[in-house]
Amino acid sequence: MRVAVLNGVNLDLLGRRDPEQYGSLSYSELETRIYSWAQELGLTVRCRQTNSEGQYVEWCHDALDWADGVIVNPGAWTHYSYAIHDALEPHTAPLVEVHLSNVDEREEWRRVSVLEDLAAKRIVGKGPEGYREALEFLAAR
Ligand code: DQA
Repeated sequence: MRVAVLNGVNLDLLGRRDPEQYGSLSYSELETRIYSWAQELGLTVRCRQTNSEGQYVEWCHDALDWADGVIVNPGAWTHYSYAIHDALEPHTAPLVEVHLSNVDEREEWRRVSVLEDLAAKRIVGKGPEGYREALEFLAAR
């Protein structure tokens, strides 16, 4: 099973931004964990991060032809990007929305997810473990 993990804006700053919310792991350490969990589960993962919304949309399109499952953490785009919503809408593969922090208990604007209606599962507030849970969810399908 092939899984695209698409991380968005500002996630490259992990380890240097608000450790109370996002923990102390760097982005590259997070990727290393994701690849090792994927290996344990027998999944082929392609993990990517960008700060460019257009690039993110392109990767959503690429995942249409490649992925059997998609994990997204678009960062702040989650809360307002209808372009990303529409790029993910044609997907028939299951989609999991992951957030390191508990967005449902933070500022009002973070409680809105424009992708929510597309997600087979939403995992928030579990830190890096949220990605493991998302991989397990996809592996079990
Ligand atoms: C985030 C939550 C978003 O509100 C925020 O803008 C991020 C990270 C998370 O993983 O908790 O950049 O998606």
